[in-house]
Amino acid sequence: METKAMPAFRKTAETFASGAKTLPQRYFVSPEVFAEEREKIFSRQWVLVGHLSQIPKAGDYLVQEVAGDSLIVLRDKDAVVRGFYNVCRHRGTRLKEDACGHAAAIQCPYHAWTYGLDGKLTCAPHMDDVPGFDKAEYSLHAVNLALWEGFIFVNLAATRDASTERGGYIPLEKWFAPLAGKFSHWNMSILRSAKRIEYDVRANWKLMFENYSECYHCPGVHPMLSKVSPYDSAENDLCEGPFLGGFMSITKGAGLTMSGRACALPVGGTNAADSQRVFYYSIFPNMLLSLHPEYVMVHQLWPQSPERTLILCDWFFHPDAAGASNPSYNPDDAIEFWDITNKQDWHVCELSQQGIVSRAYQPGPYSPRESIPAAWDREYLRQMT
Ligand code: FES
Ligand code: FE
Repeated sequence: METKAMPAFRKTAETFASGAKTLPQRYFVSPEVFAEEREKIFSRQWVLVGHLSQIPKAGDYLVQEVAGDSLIVLRDKDAVVRGFYNVCRHRGTRLKEDACGHAAAIQCPYHAWTYGLDGKLTCAPHMDDVPGFDKAEYSLHAVNLALWEGFIFVNLAATRDASTERGGYIPLEKWFAPLAGKFSHWNMSILRSAKRIEYDVRANWKLMFENYSECYHCPGVHPMLSKVSPYDSAENDLCEGPFLGGFMSITKGAGLTMSGRACALPVGGTNAADSQRVFYYSIFPNMLLSLHPEYVMVHQLWPQSPERTLILCDWFFHPDAAGASNPSYNPDDAIEFWDITNKQDWHVCELSQQGIVSRAYQPGPYSPRESIPAAWDREYLRQMT
């Protein structure tokens, strides 16, 4: 029987393409490039909008803006997760204003047209008087939505231009094939967020991806992190394409927490080797996935302008971790550690942005320890062509 070989992990410098340089200035400042990214990337790719645990019950919903469009993502009566454009079929009014909530139906605040959780128009006052009006023709516009390991992704491509090859979308299972089964033992679909912190960062969204993809900066920027995870320990198994990353070692007996110890029971059946590793993967175009033995940290990146990015960071733990029989459970120990580390990263990203806008800026050479940010840039440029 043929067995599938596990992808090999390789030291960061081994996959470095010599001569790689940072992107030209326009990619960080130009409104035209920003508009192009919205069309070519955020309107066509699978974009992370949340996790199942955010909408656990029928009628729970969240609202998220993607590529300039407001979307409602909800759990319907049969527990199916669905997505709709936040646009009334009568005169186009925004239906839901709050970021999240619970509703038995979606009622427009203007003239009270009402839609079921399946998007069907159920009530439209006085419209029966209109000859030929058929409620069945005025369901909410659905958004293409799919799940991966408990995370909710949407893709706007099909509703934009499904008829052309360029405007179509790749089914999520096919797109995520390189990651199929890779993270199953972390049980991510049942995890729950213990905390979300929002960061408003004055820097281009690509700088955060590039920053996340290397630890060349760790000794100077993250002295606390460097103590528990050697900055030169990175090995990657995904080195080209939309998914990039690998692991870094955790010093024996240590945890990525303020106390330096593990702060909860392991999230899943991680094996002995994994208990000494933290895995970092960037998932194009808006997800950073950091898998620790006892928690999973996820960043969602939402570009607001060429020079500003909103970042949502969640810390996910096993739902049983908080039980009375688990006195070691202390999520704040991890959250505080990463809140400090995140802010250190955002600060250097903001400093980069400030320098890149200068007339003196020119693309600089990446070091061999920056093979992954260089690969991320290559994928970005492929998607922009
Ligand atoms: Fe929604 Fe009129 S615009 S009911
Ligand atoms: Fe960092």
